[in-house]
Amino acid sequence: MSQTPSTQVTVEGKRAVVIGGTSGIGWAIARAFAEDGADVVATSRDQERVETAAARLEELGAKTRAVTCDVSETDSVETLWTEAADALGGVDILVNSAGSVARAPVTEMTDEQWARDIDINLTGVFRACRVFGREMDGGSIINIASMSADQAREARPAYCAAKSGVNGLTRAAAADLAPEVRVNAISPGFVITPLAGDAFDEGTDVRTAIDERTPMGRVAEPEEIAGAAIYLASDASSFTTGEEITIDGAYSDSAI
Ligand SMILES: NC(=O)c1ccc[n+]([C@@H]2O[C@H](COP(=O)([O-])OP(=O)(O)OC[C@H]3O[C@@H](n4cnc5c(N)ncnc54)[C@H](O)[C@@H]3O)[C@@H](O)[C@H]2O)c1
Repeated sequence: MSQTPSTQVTVEGKRAVVIGGTSGIGWAIARAFAEDGADVVATSRDQERVETAAARLEELGAKTRAVTCDVSETDSVETLWTEAADALGGVDILVNSAGSVARAPVTEMTDEQWARDIDINLTGVFRACRVFGREMDGGSIINIASMSADQAREARPAYCAAKSGVNGLTRAAAADLAPEVRVNAISPGFVITPLAGDAFDEGTDVRTAIDERTPMGRVAEPEEIAGAAIYLASDASSFTTGEEITIDGAYSDSAI
């Protein structure tokens, strides 16, 4: 690199696709990208949600297109690339934020529950890295893993296994796609989103236990994950690849 590297933490002028981008953490990232001046396609399986997200992104001044995508189907991911690249004139940033959680202890989890969680949380990320990694002409891929990649969560064996896999995949894809495309993971702790459901509702025993153990004393809002995505998508992180950033209010570091 002959030029002085950029230290600007911005995605202004970049073109982004956020899979699982119509709610929760994915939507917070898609909106933050658009507010910062990026063009953004925010996608998930549901046509109505995709159209609502596209309308809101357009209001923020982003170029966009309403495209559905199911990460459990390779054809669907390929169509997403074609549509997004056509709408935005290429893609510089891919965020993999689709997720599902089956809740059953290992002795009771069915083959179907196991296969679905692995397919959406891990194989879906692989499919998107494969398709976008082939086509992107430089840029940044950000996989949303979880602190559950490195920790036991009761009654979520497939989810924990899949998220550990996402971290391994992130490192391997980073090696394969360097130096053109960087690949990193963000591992959130407890974040209030539709996926979490009522699990972290205030006043519940679970929420009280989380708040007490977390040095920051609370769970996160989805927007608190989006800043790290802007950093990893920006040129300010030009030498950062194969890394995992944990954002959990130091829950993982607390032994109590
Ligand atoms: N909420 C948390 O506490 C938390 C913690 C750690 C990691 N995460 C991870 O963050 C990511 C986003 O989850 P969230 O909490 O924002 O929940 P969410 O339910 O708001 O988002 C998940 C998104 O994935 C989409 N999706 C599900 N299956 C899909 C498929 N087959 N194809 C395409 N899209 C699909 C959903 O429509 C939704 O938009 C997930 O990967 C999740 O595992 C969440």
